[in-house]
Amino acid sequence: MSFNTFGHMFRVTTFGESHGVAIGCVVDGCPPLIALTEADIQRDLDRRRPGQSRFTTQRQEADQVKILSGVMAHPKTGEQVTTGAPIALLIENTDQRSKDYSEIKDKYRPGHADFTYEAKYGIRDYRGGGRSSARETATRVAAGAIARKVVPGINVRAALVQMGPHAIDRGKWDWDEVGNNPFFCPDKDKAKFFEDYLDGIRKQGSSIGAVIEVVADGVPAGFGAPIYGKLDSDIAAALMSINAVKGVEIGDGFATAALTGEENADEMRASNHGPLFLSNHAGGILGGISTGQPVVARFAVKPTSSILAPRKTVDRDGHDTDILTKGRHDPCVGIRAVPVAEAMVACVLADHLIRHRGQIG
Ligand SMILES: Cc1cc2nc3c(=O)[nH]c(=O)nc-3n(C[C@H](O)[C@H](O)[C@H](O)COP(=O)(O)O)c2cc1C
Repeated sequence: MSFNTFGHMFRVTTFGESHGVAIGCVVDGCPPLIALTEADIQRDLDRRRPGQSRFTTQRQEADQVKILSGVMAHPKTGEQVTTGAPIALLIENTDQRSKDYSEIKDKYRPGHADFTYEAKYGIRDYRGGGRSSARETATRVAAGAIARKVVPGINVRAALVQMGPHAIDRGKWDWDEVGNNPFFCPDKDKAKFFEDYLDGIRKQGSSIGAVIEVVADGVPAGFGAPIYGKLDSDIAAALMSINAVKGVEIGDGFATAALTGEENADEMRASNHGPLFLSNHAGGILGGISTGQPVVARFAVKPTSSILAPRKTVDRDGHDTDILTKGRHDPCVGIRAVPVAEAMVACVLADHLIRHRGQIG
């Protein structure tokens, strides 16, 4: 099963299965002399951790990270810093209940990767989906915490902006609210509404999709490269690689199809700090290169496939059957995709910073 690595200069390789002993990653290419402790990484992991509210899976994982390599106490200051060597991170699995999945060992769960993994590899890890499980995304969040330290002037934040058909009121956007509700929602009133809305969905044993927006502030002009190294293509690929993501857009994205040229092109005016853009329909990227404005991406997360209603499927012997997924699940996986998205964009930006320096100095 190849292709477990992403990034060019800041490279992240992840390993481990949902119900294996542990998951982890190796971050290669991290610059030396960056202060890094387990606590720096744990902060981000704690935001993604399951079982934190009734709206996310009740799987209880401590998600305690261990740094196995690539750091040491600085000989002069004593502060723990990166050495430039590969940084290996390990997170043990502690709440893997394989028996929850034993009934579905021979059936393909609709909406999951069961059929495709088996069609490709001739074997699949039915214990929670193995590599296809979003348990793997914990390792991305750990890598993302390191990436944030590589780009200290850049602030990558994400928020849930739509659940089902219910979008937030963008006029009520308050980043401080994102940490105050279980949905990572920046609109306080909509977060209140989501409580009853998602409770209703959860009690029916059903699920719902969501839209997440990621904003990176402080990205200087010049990140990204033309043609095959575009910042927007790398961000899109990184976000699309998150489980259950079915659509990604940059800036105004699909809405630009309905705009005129006058409406869409971001006008400019001179200022003491270089050109000033009068709008940001482009999402902070032109020609694959950052403009210095906030980089904005949005993505759609499909509804959780494991629901409590029986679904039609086939078994490994090719017979029609029904399936009822009894394992633990999130009614809206979009919620926990929020910290994962921040991590992926942070990794892309760290990679592009190092690539930029490599060519431009
Ligand atoms: C943070 C997160 C948690 C997820 N948890 C579940 C879950 O509990 N149940 C489920 O059916 N899908 C869950 N998913 C989605 C599946 O992993 C994903 O739909 C499945 O592996 C098939 O891959 P695809 O949807 O990317 O094609 C989760 C996704 C994310 C991002």
